[in-house]
Amino acid sequence: MSDGAAKITNKDGRTAELPILSGTHGPDVVDVRGLRKETGLFTYDPGFASTASCKSAITFIDGDEGILLHRGYPIEQLAEHSNYLEVSYLLMYGELPNQQQREQFEHTISRHTMVHENIRTFLGGFRYDAHPMAMLVGTVGAMSSFYHDSTDINNPQHREISAQRLIAKMPTLAAYCYARYTGRPLLYPDNSLSYVENFTRMMFGVPAEEYTPNPVVTSALELIMILHADHEQNASTSTVRLTGSSGANPFASIAAGIASLWGPAHGGANEAVINMLDAILYSGETIEQTIARAKDKSDPFRLMGFGHRVYKNFDPRAKLIQKMCHDLLADLGGDQPLFELAMELEKATLADEYFIERRLYPNVDFYSGIILRALDIPMNMFTVMFAISRNVGWISHWMEMHEDREFRIGRPQQIYVGAPRRDYPA
Ligand code: SDX
Repeated sequence: MSDGAAKITNKDGRTAELPILSGTHGPDVVDVRGLRKETGLFTYDPGFASTASCKSAITFIDGDEGILLHRGYPIEQLAEHSNYLEVSYLLMYGELPNQQQREQFEHTISRHTMVHENIRTFLGGFRYDAHPMAMLVGTVGAMSSFYHDSTDINNPQHREISAQRLIAKMPTLAAYCYARYTGRPLLYPDNSLSYVENFTRMMFGVPAEEYTPNPVVTSALELIMILHADHEQNASTSTVRLTGSSGANPFASIAAGIASLWGPAHGGANEAVINMLDAILYSGETIEQTIARAKDKSDPFRLMGFGHRVYKNFDPRAKLIQKMCHDLLADLGGDQPLFELAMELEKATLADEYFIERRLYPNVDFYSGIILRALDIPMNMFTVMFAISRNVGWISHWMEMHEDREFRIGRPQQIYVGAPRRDYPA
């Protein structure tokens, strides 16, 4: 929807009248598609902090108000009333499922949880100490070589079955990567269990014994997975869109998203938060010294779990997770000193001018690591947990992009600051 125009005039006096577009919620945007044709000018926006790359109906974030909506539903309400598979259906199809749709979706997902036997062999090719994220990136990419019956990305049915396969198999692949890392047997999925229970059984179960899911662990993981499912055009989702925009198959596109998520500035932050808190606990460094390091421009150290490109207020997910931290540690015990240190660090930063001025608040990763540790999830699986959950966000955006009439291959411009044209020395 267009509402008004912005004018930009170049050095030669050529002016572009650029339409201003409005969405359902959120700031208006200047549509700069005509800028180059009218004035020869480009825009410059490293990190795309002020640039909308697409129109999307999946998620909306208001960073100033700390609001997160999935298809219009507030994350707080989904966290209280829904579960991960229902949120997955909502993200993929745009509406909450009715009873029949929910049962059908759950049945379909449960019928795709197994993986080709060769993937089990493929995993054996990794070094014994390969990080589970390295194995997951490789294994999901390798899935492209198994499904020749559904690789026509222009066929909506092929796109849907690929999405369902990815949602169904990600927990199996994730658990297998961990099993390989620990030398444990790879358990086949048990479809009599729920989606999350099935994952915890493949992670922690052994063939020699019956596995009884722990309801406290299951409900905590269910919440963690709901809270990490989607988050607009974050780095990994933008990576999936850019990869998919060239026509790459869904498995290759999701593998690219997993690779991007691994970075400590993004999904790798939950593991980095725990490493940071451990280091503070055991180094004897005071919180004041840690915060001073985080503020020191000559020190690359940043406070892991703080700050966000969009949230300039509390990350609503962090609030939900903080409450669960309290409940869980009361239930399961777990790393009380780590949690208490986290609370002290949060209190100190919220009172510190540097953080206040830059509106740096605890983000979802600040607390998720503490919960995952309390759930006995191994640290090198923290980002894998994030990937299992974000998988549905990635694939929903990949599907939305292919249904978007304005979709084009992504190809950003640049400002060239290199050497001027010169001739090869005679
Ligand atoms: C996730 O995009 C998403 O939605 C991501 C995510 C999702 O669900 O997909 O929400 C998940 O990735 C959460 C973020 C997890 N990462 C971390 O916790 C790592 C620590 N945080 C920082 O690396 C940083 O805050 C980012 C990467 C999250 C945001 O970086 P920006 O938006 O580019 O911020 P910036 O670098 O422009 O920082 C602005 C200022 C700078 O200082 P000045 O130059 O103004 O003096 O704030 C400072 C930064 O130095 N700053 C920090 C800081 N984060 C920013 N200083 C100390 N510690 C920090 N954590």
